[in-house]
This record gives sequence, structure tokens and C-alpha cells, in this order.
Amino acid sequence: MNILITGGAGYIGTHTCVELLEAGHEIIVVDNFSNSLPVALERVEKITAKSVLVYEADISDSQKMSAIFSAHVIDAVIHFAGFKAVGESVKEPLKYYANNVNGTLVLLAEMQRAGVKTLVFSSSATVYGLPETLPIKESFPTSATNPYGRTKLMIEEILSDFYLADDSWRIGILRYFNPVGAHKSGQIGESPNDIPNNLMPFISQIAVGKRDKLRVFGGDYPTPDGTGIRDYIHVIDLAKGHLSALNHLAETQQKGMGELLTVNLGTGQGYSVLEMIKAFEKASGKTIPFEIVARRSGDIAACYSDSSYAKQMMGWKPLYGLEDMCKDAWHWQKNNPNGYEK
Ligand code: NAD
Ligand code: WQD
Repeated sequence: MNILITGGAGYIGTHTCVELLEAGHEIIVVDNFSNSLPVALERVEKITAKSVLVYEADISDSQKMSAIFSAHVIDAVIHFAGFKAVGESVKEPLKYYANNVNGTLVLLAEMQRAGVKTLVFSSSATVYGLPETLPIKESFPTSATNPYGRTKLMIEEILSDFYLADDSWRIGILRYFNPVGAHKSGQIGESPNDIPNNLMPFISQIAVGKRDKLRVFGGDYPTPDGTGIRDYIHVIDLAKGHLSALNHLAETQQKGMGELLTVNLGTGQGYSVLEMIKAFEKASGKTIPFEIVARRSGDIAACYSDSSYAKQMMGWKPLYGLEDMCKDAWHWQKNNPNGYEK
């Protein structure tokens, strides 16, 4: 297939590019490099020994997007492009609504104009808000606790309206849990611009000597060790989930049908912050100093998926466990202490 990937230079995008190229697909990346660097895609080319066609463009730029859709025959779009920092979204909501929601509207309009009707969208477990029970199923009620989460919910609703208006579209909404880890080559991985907001990159930076100590947000949650529990998923498994979604939607197309499919991509297994620290120490041989501080506003005690629907619908299941997640994150961090920056 010929697949257009928005945000393909980012963390999840680069890993998905590798999986797609290795599966024999042709890819076209559109990225404005607002949160990534071109070198990440050069690394993708190095890993796969294949070339990647890259357009430096903002997905909100309808002229450029229209020209890209006119210049290529595109079978499907995987849409990663967007901003993702929860805290920043609270301070600068307009920036998030403009980029994430408006960007998606422009993309959809251009897809519609070009007659490209297959889309895989990056949603997030954040759309479950504060779940009443665990594990989380796709049928659970959705809500948002911050502007970033609201952009994901809004886009899901837009896609649902879009499908209602024309049910010949094939749309896969993938709700990611907590992506971590890196490619086995140690060539691509997560490269935060600033102080990492997320747990795993913060721990990796301590292990490599860039930060002193982890602040564990809350030791008094109603969990076995009092720290927050999350469903960490290896980024390679997540990337493979996009292939499974595309294959599934292609089968739907072959049947002459349309579909709107919403699935969780998680492992179904939750780990606490203290368990993550211990696992990373084991994988890296480094000590991770930490102190338990107050809870972070907006955090929930525990969040993990029921991942059986993704298996049932798309035949996808995660292959990697916590040991690989930590080992691969460490391999990447050790090889690239400053991420992609020279
Ligand atoms: P990332 O920031 O590494 O990648 C996003 C890419 O999109 C970057 O390369 C950025 O330059 C590009 N981009 C942003 N706005 C753009 C625009 N208007 N036009 C063109 N390119 C643009 O993020 P990621 O971790 O790879 O996440 C990818 C997607 O998955 C995002 O939509 C994110 O919200 C979603 N998601 C991420 C996580 C996570 O924890 N990483 C969890 C759930 C969902
Ligand atoms: C994990 C656990 C923290 C940092 C976020 C977004 C979510 C999704 C994934 C995009 C929690 C604890 C963290 C630290 C800590 N992104 N922690 N000290 O909050 O589950 O999810 O990323 O869609 O929308 O909210 O991930 O990695 O920030 O936190 O103790 O310095 O680690 O409290 O229990 P989170 P995280």
C-alpha cells in the first residue's frame, strides 16, 4: 500500500514507519518538525535500507496538503500529527485546539477531496477520564480532564459524524495506553525537547546521568504500593498495531464495506511507578534515586486496558513485556544521551 503518515518523524511515527517499510509498504511522511527532527527519518532509512519521501508541511496548510494528495496515489492515511503535552494544553488550550482539531479537519477535507477513505487515528486512553472499574473496555464512557484529552475526544466525535455521513469510509481509532521503549537497533526512540513530562524518559535520563532524582507523584494511592499504576506498552507493539489496523481495514474494503473501529492498544497489565523503577534498574544496572512527593494534579490511581477487542477484531496482541521495554529504552538512551540533538 501507499501510506501517507502525518507526524511520521515523531516518537510513535518513526517506529511505525520502520514497521510499514519492513512489511513492504511505500510511505510518504508529512511533518512540520514542530516536535521532531529530520534526522529521525534518516535513522528510519538507515534501519530499513529504504528511502522515505518526506514533505516538510503543516497539516493545517490545505494548499500544501492538496498538492501532496494530487501528486500521489494514496491508499490510506495514518494520522499522528498533533501536540501531546497535557500540562501545556492546560496553559495554552487554543494552541491545542488549533493544531489538533483544526489540523485534523483540514486533513479530512483533503482526504475527502482526493477520495482517500481509509484513516487510522492516534487517540489515547486519556479519553476514558476517571474510569469507574478496571480493566478499561472500549465500551466504557468517555470524558476529558484537560484540553489535550478534549482534542482527542472531539476528533473521535468528528470521525464518528464523518462516518455517519458517509459509511463507505474505513476509520480505525486506536486508543494508546502508555507507549514506552525504543527500536531494538537503539537508533530511534523518544527524544523529549525539554524536561520529560512522562515517567519512562525521565527515568532513562536519570540513568544516563542527565537528571538527579525522580519525583514519584503520590505514594498514597489505593494501589498495592501506593504509587500510580499504568499500562505501559512497547512502542514496537504499538507500531505493529497500526499495521494490524490497516490490514483489517483493507479486508473490510475488499468486502466492499465501510467501518468505524475503535480499539484499545495496551497490554492489559498494569505496573506501579515503583515497579517501573525496579525494572529499569535491573535492565540498566543503574540506581534510580527517587523521593515520594505530592500527587500530580489530574493523575488517576490506576489505568490499564482490556486488550481483548484488538485481538478479536484485528488479530493484534503485544509481543513484548516490561523487561524488553526497559532494556530497549535504556539501549536507545545510552547510545543517544541527548536524543537526536548533536
Ligand atoms: P511526537 O510529538 O513525537 O510526534 C508528533 C509528530 O507530529 C511530531 O513529529 C511533530 O513535529 C508532528 N506535528 C505536530 N503538529 C503537526 C502539524 N500541524 N503538521 C505536521 N506535523 C505536525 O508524539 P508521539 O508520541 O509520536 O505521538 C503521536 C500521536 O499519538 C499524537 O497524536 C499523540 O497525541 C498520540 N498519543 C501519544 C501518546 C504518548 O504517550 N506518546 C499516548 C497516546 C496518544
Ligand atoms: C505515568 C505514571 C505518574 C512522571 C500521559 C498522558 C496521557 C498519555 C500518556 C497522550 C503516573 C508517574 C510520572 C514523574 C511520576 N499521552 N510519574 N513522576 O500521566 O499516565 O499519561 O502520557 O495521550 O494522556 O496524560 O503518563 O508517564 O506521565 O505517568 O511519578 O516524573 O508515572 O504520576 O502514575 P500518564 P506519565
